[in-house]
Formats: sequence, C-alpha cells, structure tokens
Amino acid sequence: MQSSWLLFALFSNWAVSSTLPRQLQWSPKTYGPDGPWHAVSIDLGSNKQPLDLYPGNTWHSNILGSSICANVLTCYAQQAGLYDSSTSTSVLTYANIDQVEQIDWTSGAMPLTGTHSVQFDTATVLAPNLFAVATIPNLSLQVIPNGYYTLPNGTNYLPEVGTLALGAESVNQTYPVVQSVENFNSSLISGYLYEAGQLASNSYGLHIGSVALGIPPSSLVGGYDQSRLLGVVTAQSYQLYSLPIDLLDIGIGVAEGGSPFADTSFSGLLAQGNSSIKVSIPVLIEATIPYLYLPGSTCDAIAAQLPVTFQSDYGLYFWNTTDPKYTRIVTSPAYLSFTFRLNQSNSQNMTIKVPFGLLNLTLQAPLINTPTQYFPCRPLTDSGSYTLGRAFLQAAFVGVNWQTDLNGAWFLAQAPGPNTPSTPVVTSIGFSDTSLTSSSNQWIDSWKGSWTVLDEGSSGTGGSTPGNHAGSKPKSLSSRAIAGIVIGVVILVAAVGALAYFCFWRRNRKPATTTQVTHNRLNSYERATVPATFEKSELPATHEYSRAELGSLNEERRAELGGTDERRVELAAS
Ligand SMILES: *[C@@H]1O[C@H](CO)[C@@H](O)[C@H](O)[C@H]1NC(C)=O
Ligand SMILES: *[C@@H]1O[C@H](CO)[C@@H](O)[C@H](O)[C@H]1NC(C)=O
Ligand SMILES: *[C@@H]1O[C@H](CO)[C@@H](O)[C@H](O)[C@H]1NC(C)=O
Ligand SMILES: *[C@@H]1O[C@H](CO)[C@@H](O)[C@H](O)[C@H]1NC(C)=O
Ligand SMILES: *[C@@H]1O[C@H](CO)[C@@H](O)[C@H](O)[C@H]1NC(C)=O
Ligand SMILES: *[C@@H]1O[C@H](CO)[C@@H](O)[C@H](O)[C@H]1NC(C)=O
Ligand SMILES: *[C@@H]1O[C@H](CO)[C@@H](O)[C@H](O)[C@H]1NC(C)=O
Ligand SMILES: *[C@@H]1O[C@H](CO)[C@@H](O)[C@H](O)[C@H]1NC(C)=O
Ligand SMILES: *[C@@H]1O[C@H](CO)[C@@H](O)[C@H](O)[C@H]1NC(C)=O
Repeated sequence: MQSSWLLFALFSNWAVSSTLPRQLQWSPKTYGPDGPWHAVSIDLGSNKQPLDLYPGNTWHSNILGSSICANVLTCYAQQAGLYDSSTSTSVLTYANIDQVEQIDWTSGAMPLTGTHSVQFDTATVLAPNLFAVATIPNLSLQVIPNGYYTLPNGTNYLPEVGTLALGAESVNQTYPVVQSVENFNSSLISGYLYEAGQLASNSYGLHIGSVALGIPPSSLVGGYDQSRLLGVVTAQSYQLYSLPIDLLDIGIGVAEGGSPFADTSFSGLLAQGNSSIKVSIPVLIEATIPYLYLPGSTCDAIAAQLPVTFQSDYGLYFWNTTDPKYTRIVTSPAYLSFTFRLNQSNSQNMTIKVPFGLLNLTLQAPLINTPTQYFPCRPLTDSGSYTLGRAFLQAAFVGVNWQTDLNGAWFLAQAPGPNTPSTPVVTSIGFSDTSLTSSSNQWIDSWKGSWTVLDEGSSGTGGSTPGNHAGSKPKSLSSRAIAGIVIGVVILVAAVGALAYFCFWRRNRKPATTTQVTHNRLNSYERATVPATFEKSELPATHEYSRAELGSLNEERRAELGGTDERRVELAAS
C-alpha cells in the first residue's frame, strides 16, 4: 500500500514536472575562429556521436559531415565533432544535393557555400538533469560534407562548428513527396517535445553569454531563465526563417563615471554619413553567425570613435592594442547602444547596451596566424540582410514562442553581465504567451566589478591611464607602486620570452592558414545556381509569410530537389 502511494507520488511528481522547460547542455569547450564562443552539446545517431553546435536558426540543423576535413591538414572543425552518417543505423536520407550552392537560408549575411544532404537521425539532447535528457527521433538535419565561408577578399575557409536549430513555426518539418520517395516528417527539438507532451509550448529562450568576460550561457526549450531578461522586453512577429526587428539608432554611452571618449555620449551613428537611412533599417537577430552585419557607413561612423583600423581582407576592424585608448575603452563602463522599435510601435523604443569589453573579440587560426583583437562590425556589401549576430547576443536575450501558423511572437531584451545568479529562474512559456516577464535585477549591478569606472571629467583623449580613480593621482611613486612596476617588468620579460617561444614553436609547425584556407572562389556558374527563392525569403522587408507562401516555397524547393537534372539530386533509395 505504502509503496504504491510512493509510486503514485513519484509518478504525479514526474507528470507535473514533465512539462517544465528543459535546459540544453553547454559544452565545456569553446570555439573560434572569431570568438571565443560557447556551444551546446548533443549526441547524434544510433552510436551517439558527440557534437558541439552553435544554437540558433530555424528548421533544420546544419551538421558538419566528417568528410569536410578531407584533404585538410589541420582541421579545426574536428574539435567540435563531425558527424559520420554511414556509421549510424538510425539515419534516414531524403536527398543528397551534390551541387555547390548557398546552404544556409537564415540571413545571407555570411553565406555558407557547399554541398548538403537532407537527412534525419536520432538526437540525444543532453541536459544537466538526468530526468531532462530528451531523445528526438528523426531530427531534421542538413549534413554538410563540403562547405566553406568566404572572406571579403575571396579566400575560403571551413566552418568550425555546426548549428542546432531551436525550432520553427511548425512542430515538425514535412519534406514533400519527391518522385518515388514518400514524404518525410522530421522532428524539430521543441516542437517534438511539445507534441510529446513534454513541454508546455514550442518555444525557447537563449542568452549565449561571453567566454572572455565569464558570462555563463543559458539555453532552454519550453521556457527561459528569467534572470537573463532585464528591463523592457520587446515582442514582435517572426518570419518563416528569421527574427526581424527595426533598428532605429546606434549610439555610444557610459554607464557610470567618466567617459573614455571625447564626449560623454554619441547618437545618430546608424544613419551618420548615409542620407538614404531615414528612420530605421530592418535587421535580423541570428545567433549562428558571429558579427554585426551593418551598412558600411554605420560601421565607419562607429569606428571613427575607436582606435581601430579597417582590414579589407577580413571586412573587419582590428583594435590598435598599443593605443592607450584601447584599454581605456574596453575596460570602462562605455557601451555601444542599439535602439529598436518596441512592440512594432511607431512611437516607442527600447535600447540594448553592449559594453565595449564584449566587443574586444579574438580572431585566430585558421583565419590569422597570431590571435588578434578585433571589433566585430562587418560592412554588408553583397547580398543578405543586415544582421546582429553573436557579438550582439552576448548582451541580449532572444526567445521565441512559435505557437503555430506564424501566430507566435519573438522576444528581445537586455541580458545581464558577469554578475548573474548561477541558479537560473526557470520560467515556462505557455502555449499562447505573447509576453515574457523580466527580472527586477538592475543591468548596471550585473557589471559591477567587471569594468573600471573612470574619473568624472576625465573625458577626452588625454593620456590618463585606465583604472586611474579619483584622488589617485600620485605625484611621486610609492614603494608599493615601484614594487608593482618591478613585478610588471618581470612579467613583461617572461611574456616576451613566452611569445618568442610560441612564435618559434608555431613556425616549426605546418603553417595552418595556408593548408586550411583554400583559394576556391565561386565561379559564375555556381553563383548563377544559388536558388533565387532563398534570397527572396531573406528580405526582412517582406513581412507576413502566409502558409500559402510557405507551401509555394516548399513547391519551389521540391522542384529543385526533384528536378530532372539527375546529377544535382541523388535521391535515396527507400
Ligand atoms: C506533423 O505536424 C502535423 C501538424 O502540424 C501533425 O498533424 C502531424 O501528425 C505531425 N507528424 C508527425 C510525424 O509528427
Ligand atoms: C522517422 O521517420 C520515418 C519516415 O517518416 C518514419 O517511418 C518513422 O516512424 C520515424 N521514426 C520515429 C521514431 O518517429
Ligand atoms: C507527415 O505528416 C503529414 C501531416 O502533417 C501526413 O499527412 C503525412 O502522411 C505524414 N507522412 C508520413 C510519411 O508520416
Ligand atoms: C547607406 O544605406 C543604404 C540603405 O541601407 C545602403 O544600401 C548603402 O549601402 C549604405 N551606404 C553605405 C556607404 O554604407
Ligand atoms: C585574403 O586575406 C587573407 C588574410 O589576410 C590572406 O591570407 C589571403 O591570402 C587573402 N587572399 C587573397 C586572395 O588575397
Ligand atoms: C596605434 O596606436 C599607436 C599609439 O597611439 C600609434 O602610434 C600607432 O600609429 C597606431 N597604429 C595604427 C595602425 O593606427
Ligand atoms: C581583450 O581580449 C583579450 C582576449 O580575451 C584579453 O586577453 C585582453 O585582456 C582584452 N583586453 C583588455 C584591454 O581587456
Ligand atoms: C526613443 O524614445 C524616446 C522616448 O520617447 C525618445 O526621446 C527617443 O528619441 C527615441 N529614440 C529613437 C532613436 O527613436
Ligand atoms: C509589449 O508587448 C507585450 C505583448 O503584447 C506586452 O505585454 C507589453 O506590455 C508591451 N510593452 C510595452 C512597454 O508596451
């Protein structure tokens, strides 16, 4: 009797807790070559192949296939794990697309080019809590046996980490009937768990945090960590493939104390020097790509205030780390502010502040031999949409309640700094919720101790060094200061020695860049075959995709998959 009561209690407890949000597992490893960034860990296939992936995007996950490292001597992609579908007994193959084309549809701001296979396999989404481990059969995948990003100067380089799609407006992804192959229903993580009664909604909440400044990442499906939302939350409708919002302005400000700049604040940087930007520009929020993809005029207007130099090979700005202003700015409470339209209103706005410390990112091999600090503004030149990637999302919370049929909403809010409670305030998103509740914590407190407050009135480019607090202007050096200098010199000598050793060691290894970065420009044939439908779907200005349009997109995609050109699509025998 008693034991059956115990069983009942256990069972009801399980039943009650079973729709609680689930946390995805973050990897202890971090990745570049433009971060470092956090990634989530999953196991894929019947033989549980471990993969670390950047969470974000919609519909299928982009998984790097094991052959991506073929013919590459130092293959950085191996570190996050590669997927070999031939060793999994649970994989289903829908189509192998051998034509080289643009693979990612999300924003087009940083196209990934290559070949791909539409496949489905069983994924184990690990979670810190044993009871929260979830197995998703037939997860919708786009496996990439061969793919590359292209630098603005035309040089290609391999992606290092695949992506984990966090959902879509539908609970599953149906691939249509093609020739003799039946249609397939593949799973999406939160949609599958919602359909299985294990989540309250088809939704997620994400804050990627910062590796360099120690902001722990947070990713939940079916809910969010309330301590990751501070202040006003904006809610707006999403699009079929993307999370669009209007960006009204970019400015510079200082949270407390003096300014490391000539002025205490700047505004109007978004439209500065560009008369065609009137009130706003539409931008997408996308956590699977790294930079701030903005008009060149905007990047230049921001860069004009910073000790940075544009590097045309990379389409990025390198910090001048020998300029005293560099350390002053990136260690100070100064921030870059992004003002957005609030709730799709034409009279209200909200601002997200990204401290410059988060914009001191590192470029590393295979992109560059020596780790180099860069400022992540990428002037968008070719196609694609203006997009705010991971650099921005270090300081912002993004969440989506997909509901179904594009009725849901997506959410953007200020995220905290390093002083964030380590125990999450796990909060469910209900099926029809169109708003999220933010924490009452203050943003400025979340950065206390992580930045150096400058003297009031110390604005300007004068030679004052960072950390020079009010009242601490020594006329003569104290013995403690002298001891500090002596220790500093010793450390500097050691650091120079270590650097020399490091350079020597590197020189004696195979030069990674030349092996990894291949010089394989897209030829005009390949350019011409990048599907036009993808480009159309990426335009953020075209709002309100209807089901019908989704259907017709699928139609075009089907035409592509099932076209008569047998070389292009090799259908799986079923
Ligand atoms: C896919 O989703 C639809 C609803 O959108 C549902 O009717 C169907 O049963 C689902 N299929 C599978 C295999 O889950
Ligand atoms: C995976 O998809 C295939 C094809 O739609 C289906 O036959 C199979 O039942 C699915 N597996 C699971 C576990 O749902
Ligand atoms: C996939 O789901 C649709 C409903 O969304 C259904 O009509 C179709 O039969 C399913 N296909 C398979 C192979 O399960
Ligand atoms: C000015 O803004 C327009 C509209 O966003 C953009 O197309 C153009 O490239 C920008 N010009 C420069 C120099 O960045
Ligand atoms: C592009 O830039 C990278 C980094 O500077 C360099 O290694 C590569 O040789 C350049 N490619 C071309 C075609 O100039
Ligand atoms: C970097 O800053 C130092 C110190 O202000 C200056 O001497 C040097 O010219 C700058 N380098 C570049 C490339 O601007
Ligand atoms: C910039 O970032 C690098 C890498 O995280 C770090 O070592 C360096 O201390 C940072 N610079 C400053 C001035 O904080
Ligand atoms: C944001 O709203 C405030 C208050 O209404 C207003 O003063 C400010 O000009 C707005 N900013 C932008 C960039 O629209
Ligand atoms: C924004 O919209 C959400 C959902 O409609 C609402 O709950 C919230 O109060 C709105 N915020 C403001 C400041 O109007």
